[in-house]
Order: sequence, then structure tokens, then C-alpha cells
Amino acid sequence: MKLSILLSVLVIAAASAVPRQQRQFPDDFIFGTATASYQIEGAWDEDGKGENIWDYNTHRDPTIIVDQSNGDVAADSYHNYKRDVEMMRELGLDCYRFSLSWPRILPSGFPNHINQAGVDFYNNYIDEMLKYNIQPIVTLYHWDLPQKLQELGGFTNPLFEEWFEDYARVAYSLFGDRVKLWITFNEPKEICYQGYGSVTKMPQVNATGIGEYLCAKHLVMGHGRAYHSYNNDFKPSQGGQCGLTINLQWYMPDTDSEEDAHAVDLMNQATWALYTDPIYSPEGGFPKELSEIVAKKSAEQGYPRSRMLSFTDEERVYVQGTYDFLGLNHYSGNIVSATRYKEPYAVPSIYDDIDVGWTVNESWLKGQAAWNYLVPNSLYNCLTLLRQRYNDPDIYVTESGWSGAPDASLIDEDRVTYYATIMEQMLAAIDEGVKLKGYMAWSLLDNFEWMKGYTERFGLYAVEFSSPERTRTPRLSAFFYKEVLRTRTAVAADYRPEEFTMKIDEGH
Ligand code: NOJ
Repeated sequence: MKLSILLSVLVIAAASAVPRQQRQFPDDFIFGTATASYQIEGAWDEDGKGENIWDYNTHRDPTIIVDQSNGDVAADSYHNYKRDVEMMRELGLDCYRFSLSWPRILPSGFPNHINQAGVDFYNNYIDEMLKYNIQPIVTLYHWDLPQKLQELGGFTNPLFEEWFEDYARVAYSLFGDRVKLWITFNEPKEICYQGYGSVTKMPQVNATGIGEYLCAKHLVMGHGRAYHSYNNDFKPSQGGQCGLTINLQWYMPDTDSEEDAHAVDLMNQATWALYTDPIYSPEGGFPKELSEIVAKKSAEQGYPRSRMLSFTDEERVYVQGTYDFLGLNHYSGNIVSATRYKEPYAVPSIYDDIDVGWTVNESWLKGQAAWNYLVPNSLYNCLTLLRQRYNDPDIYVTESGWSGAPDASLIDEDRVTYYATIMEQMLAAIDEGVKLKGYMAWSLLDNFEWMKGYTERFGLYAVEFSSPERTRTPRLSAFFYKEVLRTRTAVAADYRPEEFTMKIDEGH
């Protein structure tokens, strides 16, 4: 063997013998898990809770959900909350993100009557977390609108912003002495596009090309009002923070052409900047190019005015800068093209407005959900993009996770691979200077996955939905995540616990 070859073999061997560099997450970085009320609580009509849009619609027509199920009982966390907190302790969580069910607190949607049993439930839940030093992080709205408010038009009614502010104030005054991080809305695109601009989420309004834009404005205004209320009347005494959670796919161009780069930009405008630019961008208002496209198309289509609403100057200034942090939910990504992969989009619709196509690379690792892929560097790229677009805000990853089949093994290696990759990407983003403050895995436990019912599972803990107790069992990913939290490093995907027994470590 030539000396040079021998030397390089030795160098490579030496390099692989060096232990992986153990980069640590910062001391003040918080790790948690996330859930949402309708997906886990059950007790859909217990103790005075009002009906929400999912209760109403899944009961009206069970076939809208793939397995004809619903969230009537779900993981029954309403009765099992102590076990849930025990699981948080087993994992060693710093924080837990969950959502309040608006109609459990305000059955009519309005604060004319506060349901004390619902308030007691959340008080007990929060107090149980705090007993063990687990910080509660609350989402005010995670998709379960009171049905009574839907009957008044829900997010398409311009009064929605007032209803939401009234509800937010009730929540701050009831729980704000102990809750210090508030998220107004979870994933605006899913609320507005899927709920009002198509049929893929409740309330399935399907007003394509109109509903999503009406909803976008009222949601943003509702956020602004809830933020100002908190900032003016609660923050001075309670000292917490308030922000919005959006969802980003990582969109990458199909080719390096200018057209494809532009197509990516349009996708970003339509799927998340529509909701965040008015709040987080220095200029405020809806994305300019998207507004112009929709105005032009609306005129061509014979509408007397744009299908997309705009802000008055006063409104634009009012919502601009209404944040203390940005919440990011991130799972997957797509390849975007200006010319290829287009579907026949409904006319009018937001996708017809931007007129771009998207696809995936089938070589990416794939989860159970049709959209769930492990896309190289996707979280890192989203974090650095948001940092750049919005002038370096504090960011929390408020969700990310991996879907598996209901009958998949408890040794969920793909989920562990996913989480291991995500941890590396977060450390790289922190190195890059992103002000990343925390991470919440979706999800603590299996739950009701919206239109997919119980056919897609995201839990670190598996839930046996056929048992009356809704027994919870940790998957390999739970042990893996616990090790990440214990070491505060990016643990390698081949990590295996010494034994598969979950214990609560000292100090938790
Ligand atoms: C995001 C949503 O916030 C959550 O409700 C959902 O279950 C997960 N994505 C997985 O699809």
C-alpha cells in the first residue's frame, strides 16, 4: 500500500474513533411535548362543556373521518391528566404545551357564563404540572371553535376578533398567574385554508378562494387584540409573553431557475407569510405580491373587489409588532415548481391564485401520513429563513414529530431517526445565531389525528384506544427523548436504553 493511502486510512480510522462532539443545548433552552384539547381530552359533553365544531360535525356525519371515529373519548386525558403529568415527569420535561378548549370554559362561546368545572379541570392540570416544575405553555385556540360561534360564521365574521379577545381575557385572568407563555392560534393555514377554503378540516366551509382570505384577516386581527389585551392589562402584573404559532413546510425549488425560486416565494407567501407578515414583518400588512395577484385575478374573474381583504392603515399599525416570540410547527417539506406538478386547482382558490406545483422526493424517509417526510435540513432551513425574514425574533419550535401506523412496533426506529436529525439541526441553527428558545415534540401520546382519526400515531407514548383506561406505554422514542433531555445533547439515533422500564428520575 502506498504511504499516502495508508496515511489517509489511518486518519479516517482515527477520526471515527473520536467520540462524537457533544454539543450542548443552552441552559435556558426548554424541552417539552405538545398536545391539543380535542385530540386528547375526551369528555366531550361532560360537566357542562359546550359543543365544538368537531363534536358537531363528527356526530352529524361520522364518515367524514377516515375510520369513522371522533374525539368523544380520545386519550381521555380529562380523566387521566395525572397519568399524563406522570409521563411528563418520566421524560424529564421542562415544559408542556397544551390547548384550552374554548367551549369547555365558555360553553356558548361568550363570557356570559363561565363553566366552573372546565376551569377546575385546567386549574388542576396546571397545578399538577407546576408541582413538578413543569412549565405550562398554553395555546388559546387549537381548532375546536364553539359550534355556536360557527353558526354565526366563525372566522368569517368580522366580529370574530372581539369574540376571541373576550375569550383570551377570560383565560389570562383565570390562568395567567401561572401560565407565562401564551400562543394565540395554532397553525393559521390549517384553520383558514383547510377549514374555510377547502374541506380538509372542520368546519369544511369550502368557500375556495374567498373563505381563506376572510379568515386570514379576522384571525390576524384577533391575534392583535389578544396580544394588546395581554400586553396592556395582564403582562405588567403577570410578566409572561404572547405569540403566534405557524406551520412551515420547507419549500425547495425544483431547479435553480429564477421561475422556480419565485414559485417558492409565492408558496411561502400563501401558506404562512399571509398570516405572519402583518404581525412580524417591519412593513406590516399582507404580502404585497400576493395581494396584487389576488386583486388582479379577482378583477379578471368578475369580482367587483379583491377576494383578499386588506388592512386599513390604522389596522396595519395596530397588529404590526404584536408578538414576543414566534412559534414554529415544522414536520416536512416539498419540491416546488413554477411549471410542473400542478393539480387542477379549484377556481377561484389560493392555489389557483399563485399557480405553482409541488411534489416530494420519494427517496426521503416517509412516515405513515401521506405528507410526512424526513427532508434534509428542513428545520434548520426554516429557522434561518424566519430569522432573516423577521429580524431575528425569539423562536420556539412548538411542534415537530413523526407519524407511525397504529400497529407499528414500540421500537419506533424511524421516529427516533427523525428526532435525532431534528436535534442536530437545532444545534446547527443555534450555532448560526438563531434565537431558538425551546422545542416541543408532537406528541406526548397518541391522539385523535383530525380527519385521519386514530390511523396515524404521533405519540412518544402509545395509547391503547381499545382499553377503557386508555393505557399508555412508552415507545423507544420516549426513552430516546428522555436521554436527549438528560444529556441536553443531540443523542445518536442508535441509542438504546439499558432496560425498557420508565422511571421518574430524582428531581422530577
Ligand atoms: C399539527 C397540528 O397542530 C396537530 O394538531 C397535528 O396533530 C399535527 N400537526 C400532526 O399532523
